[in-house]
Amino acid sequence: MNVNAENVNYPRKLKTFNNPERFIEGWYWVIPSRKLRVYEVKPVTVLGRELVIYRGQDKRAVIFDAYCPHMGAHLAEGKVEGNELRCFFHHWKYDAEGFCVDIPCLDEPINVKAKTWPTAEKYGMIWIWTGETPQQPLPFIPELEIEECDSNFGARFITNCHPNVVMINAIDTQHFNTVHKVVSEFIFEKQELNENAITFSNVAQDGEDYFLIKLIRPFYKNPVTYSLCYWYGTTGMVTFGPDFLHFYIMFTLRLIEGGKAEGQAIFLTKKRTSIFGKMYNRFVLWLTEILTHYFIKNDSKIFQTIQFNLKTPIQADQSIIQFINHLERQKNLKWESWTMGNLERVRDGEVRDVEKRENREKWRDELVND
Ligand code: FES
Ligand SMILES: [Fe+2]
Repeated sequence: MNVNAENVNYPRKLKTFNNPERFIEGWYWVIPSRKLRVYEVKPVTVLGRELVIYRGQDKRAVIFDAYCPHMGAHLAEGKVEGNELRCFFHHWKYDAEGFCVDIPCLDEPINVKAKTWPTAEKYGMIWIWTGETPQQPLPFIPELEIEECDSNFGARFITNCHPNVVMINAIDTQHFNTVHKVVSEFIFEKQELNENAITFSNVAQDGEDYFLIKLIRPFYKNPVTYSLCYWYGTTGMVTFGPDFLHFYIMFTLRLIEGGKAEGQAIFLTKKRTSIFGKMYNRFVLWLTEILTHYFIKNDSKIFQTIQFNLKTPIQADQSIIQFINHLERQKNLKWESWTMGNLERVRDGEVRDVEKRENREKWRDELVND
């Protein structure tokens, strides 16, 4: 038995973390808001599920399952009329709640409904909740919870590893030194905001030797902030900087085929409306982008080739393990079907494990030191 592993309470069997067939029920990004104009309809695939998204006259984005409940035509071939979507094939029309409101060959529409999904827009992005009713808010940074934000997009990226593995990079303290050459000590304090969100804040006092810090040291009193806020195990939000100027970076990822990830970096700052404020925000967002590139350079190599398997956890991996434990407690869904991952209600309230054993073998992390 590995003594270190015992110390850090690493879970024996992982059902969600780094699993190419599971994800946490939550809010996920769909497409940037500016990519969907009024009266436009588009096909999108999110977490293996085929969907259509359209924007009606009222400017609201609406998401349906992709195939028409009549005969299965793809609804992205259809046309937006007012706030409704008409199927291209037999011209059945659905309102924004998915109800069929017109069938041209009948006097009255019949009782049929397209499947719709909760949708929201924030940070210049359209988001989808992958369950019936949203249980949590859109991802937010605690400091900015009640603020309106200005945002800028960084590059969209694809990694060769699972979103969860990308996420832990920001709390993997050992690699700050080995990969990024940051000499300071990091001690993270974790706090669960709710079932789906967790923060890790650096409480170590040193870090004053770092050259960037030295540069700005005369301008602030308290230690520099470095904290992470994770949502649904796949959106990570970084807060970094001295007390007079915090930089905010969101990395929002989705699981794609083969256990890989596609993601988007979004730079954020509190909204300012005056002319000077707008100029200031442009500058801050530009600076945030520069800092982001500086911090993540060299990480892409890791994401390209890693075969994640925490065989030998040590005390320094504690934050990563806390992140994994937090993830394992959340409700997971199956990629593509979006049905419940590990347990399914079959009949009369009976619940049974429907996961196939061979599937489980495919993705289970093993501890060789038992
Ligand atoms: S398949 Fe859509 S109306 Fe017939
Ligand atoms: Fe890194």
